Amino acid sequence: MDKLLIRGGASLKGELQVSGAKNAALPLMCACLLTPQTLRLANVPELRDVATLLALLGRMGVTSSRRGHTLDLCAATVTEPLAPYELVRTMRASILVLGPLLARRGEARVSLPGGCAIGSRPVDQHLKGLQAMGAEIAVEEGYIVARAARGLRGARLVMDVVTVTGTENLMMAACLARGTTVIENAAREPEIADLARCLNAMGARVGGAGTAVVSVEGVEVLSGTAHQVMPDRIETGTFLVAAAATRGTLRLTGADAGSLEAVIDKLRESGAEVATAPGEIRLAMNARPRSVSLRTAPYPAFPTDMQAQFMALDAIAEGTGVITETVFENRFMHALEMRRLGAQIEISGNTAVVRGVPALQGAAVMATDLRASASLVIAGLAGRGETLIDRIYHLDRGYERIEEKLSRLGADIRRVT
Ligand code: EPU
Repeated sequence: MDKLLIRGGASLKGELQVSGAKNAALPLMCACLLTPQTLRLANVPELRDVATLLALLGRMGVTSSRRGHTLDLCAATVTEPLAPYELVRTMRASILVLGPLLARRGEARVSLPGGCAIGSRPVDQHLKGLQAMGAEIAVEEGYIVARAARGLRGARLVMDVVTVTGTENLMMAACLARGTTVIENAAREPEIADLARCLNAMGARVGGAGTAVVSVEGVEVLSGTAHQVMPDRIETGTFLVAAAATRGTLRLTGADAGSLEAVIDKLRESGAEVATAPGEIRLAMNARPRSVSLRTAPYPAFPTDMQAQFMALDAIAEGTGVITETVFENRFMHALEMRRLGAQIEISGNTAVVRGVPALQGAAVMATDLRASASLVIAGLAGRGETLIDRIYHLDRGYERIEEKLSRLGADIRRVT
């Protein structure tokens, strides 16, 4: 199994191009199920999760071709509306095929996602919304079995929990439903607005995406289109924190500062100089970072997907930071690994108190999920000596060639098998 070997101590310096967003690309790929015509997606990142979803779509009869970062998907016919356990268990985002399959085929069988390293992550809100739109749903042998023999109909959906993929699933289903659907208490993440832009280019009538109330007027058919996947705001944020933690200077191109305001505010609070321009973010950190306290919550608040990376920053900062995780109930696994590097972190419920130390000391650690892995990379880069990170398959799910990108910035990092 691959591991990452990092020799810490180098300041990151240079320029990088940000990749397309994983969490935008995955729902956009599922949108191909809504039309028999070709959907062309540009700026699709090369990631394990993208490959997993391609395999899943392929099993359903979707044909695909890829040239670099451009991906053509065509669901001329959907042969089998099934998402099997083997694929869903490796990637929970597979649940995103449920809404489109039900809308297009009137039936779907999707494995119920099981437990997960960061929390229980139920999908009750997805199911409740589809039921309100007229679907009959049962759970049989671990599978969600959904049917809408006479098609879906528009409905007013009030979400009990703000859910990103839940909002996306219902938004896609509503595009081919009869009548108008209104999703209240919708998630407002920029990836939802990106999906809506693509759906509207396919002929859908989605309004309000990116706000808490999304309305979708159903149409008879959708057509193909070409769409450019938005930049990955979490990859962007991860590189910015890595540069800040190593007292580096970084210019990111192809980045969207507008989708990252809460993160940029916290970086400035930690002492970084951050300048933004359209498509570009620059960061310079000239001194030891200062601790920052933060609380994760749905967009536009501070993203849970950046929590672990800021814990690494606080671990070597001056002062004490208090980090509160409100989105997932078990997303502090990285704290235990960081302690092996000498970090002083106390956890109590959903709060972590991080007392900064002057330097971390390299050690062997284990990645437990995607963003935890990224935080350990940052801790290793900022620490002294060698850090060996095991189970980096998590990292390959969501960061495109991270070690190559970091090497280009002067980091001493390599993949070992
Ligand atoms: N929730 C429910 N019921 C539901 C759905 C969600 O109780 O039916 C709860 C969850 O258990 C969680 C909270 O609502 O406590 C928010 O979960 P959400 O549904 O928003 O998460 P998600 O859609 O499964 C997406 C991202 C995650 C990101 C979260 C939160 C994708 C493919 N995944 O997950 O990304 O952390 O939103 O922003 O978009 C990552 O990239 O590392 C990652 C985990």
